[in-house]
Amino acid sequence: MKRKIALLFYESSTRTRTSFELAAKALGADTTLVSSLSSSIEKGESLKDTGLTLRALGAEAIILRHNSSGAPWLLEAETRLPVVNAGDGMHEHPTQALLDLRTILTHLRPGVTTVDGETLAGVTVTIVGDIMHSRVARSNMMLLPRLGAHVILCGQRELLPEVAGQAGPGITLERNFDAALHQSQVVMMLRIQGERLAGLQLDLEEYKANYQLTGPRLAAHAPKAVVMHPGPIIRGMEVTAGAADGVQSVILEQVKNGVAIRMAVVERALTVGGAA
Ligand code: CP
Repeated sequence: MKRKIALLFYESSTRTRTSFELAAKALGADTTLVSSLSSSIEKGESLKDTGLTLRALGAEAIILRHNSSGAPWLLEAETRLPVVNAGDGMHEHPTQALLDLRTILTHLRPGVTTVDGETLAGVTVTIVGDIMHSRVARSNMMLLPRLGAHVILCGQRELLPEVAGQAGPGITLERNFDAALHQSQVVMMLRIQGERLAGLQLDLEEYKANYQLTGPRLAAHAPKAVVMHPGPIIRGMEVTAGAADGVQSVILEQVKNGVAIRMAVVERALTVGGAA
């Protein structure tokens, strides 16, 4: 009998939602999508009741994207189903970090199939932009140093508090983008998360002057670096078309790698249990 996977999305998504759906289908599972804007969530139904409803309908695992940090753990406790975190608030986006790692390995460590604490020794990854609001940054900050990478956090003070430089071993802070680029084999650009700024006013022209990745900036400071972005890209803001579409960009490879990574995660959720 076909396994049943529910995708429960409280925030919009293109890449994560589609790739989880394709991954589940590639494993032979049936999928159903519940989105907060077209379901009884809009009428006030709670996360717990929505999860219990999906379980009653036969769901054997739930893929959850939620605007509150920690929601996957709550849902797992309430439903006793495996819950996969597809992004929770400003907390984590674990499958994004895994597909980012897969992409980095393909380019910098081709042929590597198993990893250890030395796999990324000598590799510097600069994460640039709105780090404060980014669950992608947080998951990569947890994953990449464990494999030996040096992670540089780069951005302006409002989006990157000084204390972030002490987040853990292998993580440092550099305000000067060009100086960070000089040291980097990988540059990971982030969008400014307008939906989470909560009234914070930014001078966007100043932001672009200091932190926008352009073709000329890349050519001058990191002509061999791999350019990454989790998406969605805001062209002309954190990255120009020249950098996003240039030969150093692996942004669409990241998207493609999402399907295989999410197949592995869904398979694990259905066989081992919770994968949040
Ligand atoms: N990278 C990412 O999470 O993109 P989506 O919001 O489109 O899923």
